[in-house]
Amino acid sequence: MAAAGNEWWRHAVVYQVYPRSFQDSNGDGVGDLQGLIDRLDYLNDGTAASLGVDAIWLSPTFPSPMKDFGYDVSDYCDVAPEFGDLATMDRLIAECHARGIRVLLDYVPNHTSDQHPWFVESRSSHRNPKRDWYIWRGQKPDGSLPNNWRSVFGGPAWSYDEATGQYYLHSFLREQPDLNWRNPEVVEAMHNVLRFWLDRGIDGFRIDVMGMILKHPDLADNPPNPNWQPEGAERMQQLWVNNRNYPDVFAAVEGIRAVLDEYDDRMAVGEVFGTAEELARFYGGAALNGLHLAFNFQLIHEVEPFTGYTQWDAATLRRIVANAESALPPGSQPCYALANHDRPRFISRHDLDGRGLDRAFASVVLLMGLRGTPFVYYGEEIGMADADIPEDRLQDPARFRYFGRDPERTPMQWDASPGRGFTTGEPWLPFGPAEISVEVQENDPDSLLALHRRAIWLRRGELSLQRGNYVEIDTAPDVFAFTRHCPGERPVLVAVNTATEDRMLTLPPGYDKVILATERQAEGRPVEGDVVLPALAAMMVARSSAILPA
Ligand code: NOJ
Repeated sequence: MAAAGNEWWRHAVVYQVYPRSFQDSNGDGVGDLQGLIDRLDYLNDGTAASLGVDAIWLSPTFPSPMKDFGYDVSDYCDVAPEFGDLATMDRLIAECHARGIRVLLDYVPNHTSDQHPWFVESRSSHRNPKRDWYIWRGQKPDGSLPNNWRSVFGGPAWSYDEATGQYYLHSFLREQPDLNWRNPEVVEAMHNVLRFWLDRGIDGFRIDVMGMILKHPDLADNPPNPNWQPEGAERMQQLWVNNRNYPDVFAAVEGIRAVLDEYDDRMAVGEVFGTAEELARFYGGAALNGLHLAFNFQLIHEVEPFTGYTQWDAATLRRIVANAESALPPGSQPCYALANHDRPRFISRHDLDGRGLDRAFASVVLLMGLRGTPFVYYGEEIGMADADIPEDRLQDPARFRYFGRDPERTPMQWDASPGRGFTTGEPWLPFGPAEISVEVQENDPDSLLALHRRAIWLRRGELSLQRGNYVEIDTAPDVFAFTRHCPGERPVLVAVNTATEDRMLTLPPGYDKVILATERQAEGRPVEGDVVLPALAAMMVARSSAILPA
């Protein structure tokens, strides 16, 4: 087992695979685990000709009616037939491990599918032993719903069950009933799910909506949100204080952590929402006995109420990182993502002036430069944008009340062929434009893919980037700059110009060599003192002349 402070996940770059959309091996238009195995060399073949990622996170792979594309699990201990079977999963784990890639699964503890045998039993009668495994309540004496909670996807969080005359709670779709984590049998069953996969060699988990599994014991109403604006989501008319990040959730987090600690070198990263202080609580305070990592999504969007996506603006980025750095307990580190399967892709969020691709280049330098564990969503490395999807091809049921997430889930574009190298059949979602593909970018040293490879491999060899401290530096307006330094290693300065004009940057003494740049030609150049950082460009500069003391 690695010494505390040197665990693999601290210096890993993690790649998120959306299994339906990565690689289809059997022509049914849906990605699968065999397809992923066939593409592992792209992710890491041990050379700089591959991306060089250290781990993959697979969005849910379990049997599911796929109402929420796998986040409605009907069996936690198997593999969805459209993705493969347990034997394929075992092979995937072995093939990944042979390449030094760790595998994280998506653990969905808050809710199951309504087709899960536990729920089928639970809804069968009041007297069923699993009745209390879910959250059932009658209507209030005045005939109203058990409480005022809303579903994340919109509408009330309660659905009525005719047969037993009660409502069940679902924080998401009505086909996703919430488990009752106050019932010790549920806790035991869900801990055993973790053990099932850990025994099979899984290296850890991304945990779905970690902050919602424990609610207010009396399911008390949420208070109104005084800051709600009519243009905001209707569900945010109330403050989600009794069903999200409720204090009792932290004991449940510790319980999950204790299961992981039964094994060597495993990790858990939580999907959590809130302020930097709220996220920090999931790490478990000074004892660090909570999650190893908690996602900080603020580079995508800041805390709710949701007021739009984070702008590519130096002052905003600096503030977000400063908040994360100051809120986290000692010995922990942030975990950043610039995109995922729930939000528009990076380029699409930053393309109002048509310069989303330039910002995407700069974002690689930032993400790989920041202190923390970076997560890269599949396809971001080639600059996939949100695809236009005709009405009759839309799939995500959340679109009826929330925002549809199909545009950011389209299949990976391996080449320009009609099936994009993804499938020989009809893809489950339409493709984006053929110009964007791995094949096109593979041999172009100036491509976004090439920059990802250089950045990730640089980070792999640069201990200051992997584990160094973070010190913000004041340079020029519109430039977000900081240094990273690990004792005994050369320090690295990271600078990002978010202005659409050039900016002059004054380097601190000793920083003398460009080691990574959005403009590839700048790499390797000696620099000193005042340097011009072109519009929307970013770079890393090493202080090679001196190894600073600790
Ligand atoms: C968060 C997941 O990322 C999202 O895709 C899903 O719909 C909800 N949790 C519900 O599981």
